[in-house]
Amino acid sequence: MRKQTFKFSKSATDIFFDLSITKLKEIVDVKKVIFITDENIFTQHQKKFKGFNTIVLKPGEAFKLQSTIDSIILQLLEFEADRSSILVGVGGGVVTDITGYAASIYLRGIQFGFIPTSLLAMVDASIGGKNGINVELYKNIIGVTKQPSFILYDISFLHTLPESEWQNGFAEIIKHACIKDATMFKLLQANSLKYYQSKKKELITLIERNAKIKLKVVQADEFEKAERKLLNFGHTLGHALENQYELSHGQAISIGMNYASEISEQLLGFKQNDAVNSLLHRYGLPTNVSYNKRKVFEILKMDKKKAASEINYILLEKIGKAIMLPIPLADLENLL
Ligand SMILES: NC(=O)c1ccc[n+]([C@@H]2O[C@H](COP(=O)([O-])OP(=O)(O)OC[C@H]3O[C@@H](n4cnc5c(N)ncnc54)[C@H](O)[C@@H]3O)[C@@H](O)[C@H]2O)c1
Ligand SMILES: [Zn+2]
Repeated sequence: MRKQTFKFSKSATDIFFDLSITKLKEIVDVKKVIFITDENIFTQHQKKFKGFNTIVLKPGEAFKLQSTIDSIILQLLEFEADRSSILVGVGGGVVTDITGYAASIYLRGIQFGFIPTSLLAMVDASIGGKNGINVELYKNIIGVTKQPSFILYDISFLHTLPESEWQNGFAEIIKHACIKDATMFKLLQANSLKYYQSKKKELITLIERNAKIKLKVVQADEFEKAERKLLNFGHTLGHALENQYELSHGQAISIGMNYASEISEQLLGFKQNDAVNSLLHRYGLPTNVSYNKRKVFEILKMDKKKAASEINYILLEKIGKAIMLPIPLADLENLL
């Protein structure tokens, strides 16, 4: 069992990059564990939950709500969860975000850990300590920053992950390559989704490499003052499109990354936007959608990252090197 510990400002997280969920007993006192998962994962991996108190949520972003938290709290009370209980979120980013938040407020805070089951949660959502829920259309508008005490990666979960969710995960992986890792960008160009789906060792290595990119960024800037903002590459326009059209998060940020690359060419002389574009296509992601510019621009203006009359846009100087550039709203309208 290979444990790696990552330190943050107030706590540390133990990470096990390739460990079966059956080995959980070697990490924590399993008598104290209460699992939180969703129906999709629970029905397809029932054996893994045997013998554990398990709270099963309805799947999807639509249930990332306060009413879900209320029902979790009531079930925790039924299980007589106390300060020594450990909540373990077994699922995609919706489950891990909810678990971290519920654990942080139940009895003013109990221990929690994650077993991410979607590729996106493995390389992105389970890392960094942002936990929270949505209120109406406002995504992740309430929550806490608190690191999980452990993250366990059991990639056997990925056998049941739908193809579209693999693509969502790869959108964030390509994002990491664009902003931080030119060598990984080349590696992704040489391989494919099918390749990673069929090669366990190479997949684990890729997941670990991506998790470490995010971990390092978060360690440098846990409370998103500067460096961590680079992770928003593709997300400014992406979020606006995601709100407005029937796009998954991965598809929306893929289009966002393509536009950001083009803006990078115009403003910074970035020369590799064709490479970014074809890599996104290679992993089944779209790079364009016909959208209502006015509407999307209205949403952009209300974006959280807006500072006065400018938007802080994440752009690429070259593959592997991102910067943040404030762009006046009026200019951005022309650029888009
Ligand atoms: N906290 C953070 O820093 C952070 C970062 C990125 C995203 N997020 C959040 O993560 C969420 C998106 O994460 P996601 O894409 O994992 O969403 P998700 O949890 O909704 O999972 C996507 C779908 O895949 C299913 N699924 C997950 N694992 C499966 C498996 N092994 N087999 C079969 N089906 C499986 C789920 O049931 C769901 O239907 C969003 O709510 C987003 O806000 C948080
Ligand atoms: Zn994202």
